[in-house]
Amino acid sequence: MATADTHEWLHHWQDEADAAFLYLALAGQEPDPGRKDVYIKLAGVEERHVQMWEKLLREHGHEVGRARPSFNARVRAWAGRRFGSRFLLPLLLREEGQEVKGYLSLHRTSQLQDAQDVSLQLAKESAAHALAVEVNSIPCDPPALAFITPSMAGTPHSMEFPAN
Ligand SMILES: [Fe+2]
Repeated sequence: MATADTHEWLHHWQDEADAAFLYLALAGQEPDPGRKDVYIKLAGVEERHVQMWEKLLREHGHEVGRARPSFNARVRAWAGRRFGSRFLLPLLLREEGQEVKGYLSLHRTSQLQDAQDVSLQLAKESAAHALAVEVNSIPCDPPALAFITPSMAGTPHSMEFPAN
């Protein structure tokens, strides 16, 4: 019978908690209200990702406590407050790219259907986030703003771009 790789799942759970924390830190640094709104929404989706891992872990007999940002994430948030969004944006873009790779790898290698399903969904949503972060990092006026719909289905199709 296939066994759950809870060590890897816990790693993803912590990464998602860190991402939620860092998007909120980024929102705190963002003067543009449209971009700030996008980052707050992305933080909300990352929080939902945390809950997806918690549910999967719980269903496989591993109860986890409340997710907290790692020391590494707190240091990065501090640097973001010090140096601004130009520090955090490329970092989050890189993190989202690594998440996509990690989730696709888990989807391919896991023997468990529920872990395959969760990892594929998160790979798609992380790819959408990477696109949102990349578009938001383009310096132009008016901002090339990626607006994430409230439903946050999480795929690139859920992203709407303002007409002008
Ligand atoms: Fe995520």
